[in-house]
Amino acid sequence: MQIKQNISLKPYNTFGVDVKTKFFSEYNSVEELKILLQNDTVRNNRLLHIGGGSNLLFLTDFDGIILHSKINTIDIVEQDMFSVLLRVGSGVTWDDFVAYCVKKNYYGIENLSLIPGEVGASAVQNIGAYGVEVKDVIEKVEFIEIESIKFNSFSNKECRYSYRKSIFKEKFKGKTIITHVYFRLKKEPTYVLDYAHLKEAVLKNGEINLTNVRKTVIEIRESKLPDPKKLGNAGSFFMNPIIPKSQFDELSLSYPSMPHYPVSESEVKVPAGWLIEQCDLKGKRFEKVAIYEKQALVIVNLGGATGENIATVASLVQITVKKRFGIDLVPEVNFID
Ligand code: EPU
Repeated sequence: MQIKQNISLKPYNTFGVDVKTKFFSEYNSVEELKILLQNDTVRNNRLLHIGGGSNLLFLTDFDGIILHSKINTIDIVEQDMFSVLLRVGSGVTWDDFVAYCVKKNYYGIENLSLIPGEVGASAVQNIGAYGVEVKDVIEKVEFIEIESIKFNSFSNKECRYSYRKSIFKEKFKGKTIITHVYFRLKKEPTYVLDYAHLKEAVLKNGEINLTNVRKTVIEIRESKLPDPKKLGNAGSFFMNPIIPKSQFDELSLSYPSMPHYPVSESEVKVPAGWLIEQCDLKGKRFEKVAIYEKQALVIVNLGGATGENIATVASLVQITVKKRFGIDLVPEVNFID
């Protein structure tokens, strides 16, 4: 649990931006984290806690301390014939956890296969894909309050989850460090296959079972999303905007083919990727940065881009979409200056 100095953050952000942090430390347990939080270097510097770095855009060198969890345990807390409750360390790689559940025949997160990042961040971000959000299976979240170094936990309800949102991103932003997440998974076959053509795609791989759902989701993601190891990116750069139904009705007069998903009686979610593609930005290159050619919601580092280069392109996308559709795109990626 050493505090290192002047560390490159290139391996810790999936955009592959080459910046440094003044201080950096990792811990293996809640006890180690508590000790770290009492340390003067931690208390007297700006603190940022990172996960897999798959949702971060560093604009410049970080003048503070970055912490990273290596709490890597998966424990069964309780189980019966129908379900299992798992307590999972925040530092477990998300997709390793999905692979573990699929192997054990635990149902619920197979649609979230291959999402980059770690378990702790999954509960902050409420990660989601192919009709499933992680909030659907989270029962409880344990965390340390940074200021008081006190251990606390929230039930699913207290986490105030909604699309890509939680209390950890809003009221408690920067105030807590998640140490463990409790997941309730089913032991009886239960699938969510109504997203687009997911069911047909699974059937092409054989019968409907956990292994085939995972395999299919991985195939779909690999065909649409760039591998961060080869091409720096952070998945979806923007959230899909939720707009008033009245605005959608007006827009659909000019754009009758606009894809949309009802969110409530008065709100509609529109895919940001579609809006960006309509603006002819898909596949466009701006020196070291590009809008990914297979999924317009993804911005890629073609090699050697700075955080500022990427932010400039993101801002151009926002301005263009706003001008054409009157819709504000909100980044899903966190900008760190
Ligand atoms: N679309 C386009 N052009 C594009 C991309 C998308 O027209 O370049 C349209 C498609 O035609 C489709 C719709 O947008 O009708 C939805 O596309 P897709 O299924 O690819 O999903 P998405 O809304 O773009 C969201 C998540 C992804 C997740 C997929 C699958 C957000 C911000 N993103 O993307 O999550 O994998 O659904 O469920 O909600 C991530 O968060 O990093 C991520 C990849």
